[in-house]
Amino acid sequence: MIRKGVKIAPAKGKLGVLIPGMGAVATTFIAGVEAIRKGLARPIGSLTQMGTIRLGKRTDNRVPKIGDFVPLAGLNDLTFGGWDIFPDNGYEIAAKAGVLDRSLLDAVRGELETLRPMKAVFNRRYVKKLDGPNVKRGRNKWELAQQVQDDIRQFQKRTGVDRTVMIWCGSTEIFMKPAAVHSSLPLFEKGLKKNDPGIPSSMVYAYAALSMGIPFANGAPNLTIDIEALRQLARKNDVPICGKDFKTGQTLMKTILAPGFKARMLGLNGWFSTNILGNRDGEVLDDPESFKTKEESKLGVLEHILQPSVYPELYGKIHHKVRINYYPPRGDNKEGWDNIDIFGWLGYPMQIKVDFLCRDSILAAPIVLDLVLFLDLAQRAGMRGIQEWLSFYFKSPMCAPELYPEHDLFIQLMKLKNTLRHLRGEDLITHLGLEYYD
Ligand SMILES: NC(=O)c1ccc[n+]([C@@H]2O[C@H](COP(=O)([O-])OP(=O)(O)OC[C@H]3O[C@@H](n4cnc5c(N)ncnc54)[C@H](O)[C@@H]3O)[C@@H](O)[C@H]2O)c1
Repeated sequence: MIRKGVKIAPAKGKLGVLIPGMGAVATTFIAGVEAIRKGLARPIGSLTQMGTIRLGKRTDNRVPKIGDFVPLAGLNDLTFGGWDIFPDNGYEIAAKAGVLDRSLLDAVRGELETLRPMKAVFNRRYVKKLDGPNVKRGRNKWELAQQVQDDIRQFQKRTGVDRTVMIWCGSTEIFMKPAAVHSSLPLFEKGLKKNDPGIPSSMVYAYAALSMGIPFANGAPNLTIDIEALRQLARKNDVPICGKDFKTGQTLMKTILAPGFKARMLGLNGWFSTNILGNRDGEVLDDPESFKTKEESKLGVLEHILQPSVYPELYGKIHHKVRINYYPPRGDNKEGWDNIDIFGWLGYPMQIKVDFLCRDSILAAPIVLDLVLFLDLAQRAGMRGIQEWLSFYFKSPMCAPELYPEHDLFIQLMKLKNTLRHLRGEDLITHLGLEYYD
């Protein structure tokens, strides 16, 4: 049987990457891309740059690099822009963030200095711990969305990009639940004009982007595009969207370990996670309302992977706690401790301790790169709405309202690679493998 792939428009010309929130993650990503372009470093951690994909049978020996298998924008074709409430240029931001060594930053100083954040849509109501001067003024949120669209048009004109994607790397906003104003596009648009408090800044950017047919990814746990009104807008304008909350340190570990326990039918009594971090993200999360948004995003993971309703004896009574402590001396170099109480044969208890000395933005930067390239691919392949195959990158993956999210990192990877195979008309890989023994 000959399978036909999906028609994918070529990745010609430049791809604009617009980022609301030019902080540690955004500048680590941009400085990294600039350094990689100059041959100074390698894109470690990026599936689009380093990953391969097996095609056909194991005996076929067809294992191209993902970047050679699907038409992705090249690193040299990326052009960056963004918004922040602080007017510092990209070099100053990256230097203050303290993630990358001065010597590396100095090697890309010229490129970073040209990055000047545009004035942000910002209201302290949604991020209590921050305040800055580089902020737009407007009569209402509708007008602010128009101003963001003007910024986008000017960026597109100035840089001559052919396509644009937007990725939220801004601070975590306060916890919000979907409300009436989010339930349909007309109500949402009315809400923008009436300055409805249910519409935080991140939704204003997302609305502006989706209205212009620009794909949007959400790197924070905010509600942002995870509402019916913006899902409707994405479908209406044929735009792909994905979120939420980059899956980096502790949650990455959780979604690696928990599927292993379940696979071996080992029980779990409790999982206590605590960590210290001292960057601006940590400071924002020191506010209980922003922490609540993060906590919700981190807590859902175990329940969905372990399925307590299916395995009540093993996972019916889990004590799951997550703590984040703002501790300035550590800067971006977070330390995360996990104490995991498991039990085995005949109920005998065991403990696992994880001490992960990680670097938050170093783990997040390749995710930003992959999401930007895959969202652009999705759009060129005519995919619209929620891109569940990108769940791999998120702590709290968006999915259709009637589904539960898939958190298991290994199922997420299989879904991602099978989506790429599907796009190119290759057989999906089921791992059945009986044919080798016929
Ligand atoms: N680093 C990680 O591993 C990781 C993992 C998952 C999620 N995240 C999320 O990614 C986001 C960025 O993390 P970071 O470490 O770069 O934080 P950061 O504080 O260094 O950067 C966030 C930036 O967003 C800006 N900002 C806030 N509200 C804004 C608005 N309305 N418009 C424009 N700019 C705005 C802030 O001024 C700040 O410069 C955070 O929400 C964080 O929770 C990070």
